[in-house]
Amino acid sequence: MTQKDYKIAVIPGDGVGPEVVREGLKVLEVVARKKGFKYQTVSYDFGGERYLKTGETLSNSALEEFKEMDAIYLGAVGHPDVKTGILEQGILLKLRFELDQYINLRPVKLYPGVWTPLKDKGPEDIDFVVVRENTEGLYVGVGGFFKKGTPDEIATQEMINTRKGVERCIRYAFDYTGKRNKNKKLTLCDKANVITIAHDLWRRVFKEVGEEYPGIEKDYALVDATCMWMVKNPEWFDVIVTCNLFGDIITDLGAMIQGGMGIAAGGNINPEGVSMFEPIHGSAPKYTGKNVINPLAAICAAGMMLEHLGEKEGADLVDGAVARALSSGRIKDLSTKSGLKTSEIGDMVAEYIADSG
Ligand code: IPM
Ligand code: MN
Repeated sequence: MTQKDYKIAVIPGDGVGPEVVREGLKVLEVVARKKGFKYQTVSYDFGGERYLKTGETLSNSALEEFKEMDAIYLGAVGHPDVKTGILEQGILLKLRFELDQYINLRPVKLYPGVWTPLKDKGPEDIDFVVVRENTEGLYVGVGGFFKKGTPDEIATQEMINTRKGVERCIRYAFDYTGKRNKNKKLTLCDKANVITIAHDLWRRVFKEVGEEYPGIEKDYALVDATCMWMVKNPEWFDVIVTCNLFGDIITDLGAMIQGGMGIAAGGNINPEGVSMFEPIHGSAPKYTGKNVINPLAAICAAGMMLEHLGEKEGADLVDGAVARALSSGRIKDLSTKSGLKTSEIGDMVAEYIADSG
């Protein structure tokens, strides 16, 4: 067998992005040594600084290069001197859309030793995955202003749902639920009682596609009730599939019950193309360069990237080392008050991987 040699695009981005990405790459290097695969990284400086200097968010030539890569590893975008929306739209959403990363996969998993605000809930209760549609819905930005700035202003923004987009997302979620080692239950999270057109499509497709998966239990939860159950009975969930905006919202709630933004990671997946992995947290500009941010979310994102590349054993090594770091008692908190430096947490995880069996 020829040795694997992956090509990974790295976009450290803004704020604390570069710091957490550095630790993720540190971990990747140890895994590669341990598992005997090779990889090359190509770094891109897209982000707020570059935009302020050149006016460019993402170049078309880079987009073309990304299509030839095995994966993309992203830190964070968002800069205090750039108007909100420009970098989010011009970099993050553009990547998701142009590379047709139609799934946003966000595990909500409470590791042993991590504090959750949910009373009487533990790691056995908080362990589910959100499959968020990632290229449609309200994020498409179809709509416009009429009489902008006047008392008669009208602003519309439509939710776009295509049969193809909904179907491929739901099908992915069923397949994923089938492969996941839990109770084989897929919950459709929507607002079909009010969004009676767009979410009627989601319900019909869910039912139709679901017939091909007799071994998977189907459940429905309205988005408001989903938020309630995530807090009250998170153990009910195995996999949740939902539209773009609801997925965005419920995964912030998910991040909080799994211990905070310091541990939440996600993958923007194009099963037929190139996928991108990132911590869910933002660029946290006020902590830039202070070496205080916890890099575990970025490290977990690197773990997800390994799994996606087919390096399951490598991904398990990362997961095991993160679990060990979290139960070691050495990390006091997942925020900036962990008591450790960003680089020290990265070193800890890397060492645990290096000395694992
Ligand atoms: C996320 C973020 C993005 C989103 C923003 C930055 C555009 O909140 O990845 O969840 O809404 O998808
Ligand atoms: Mn979000």
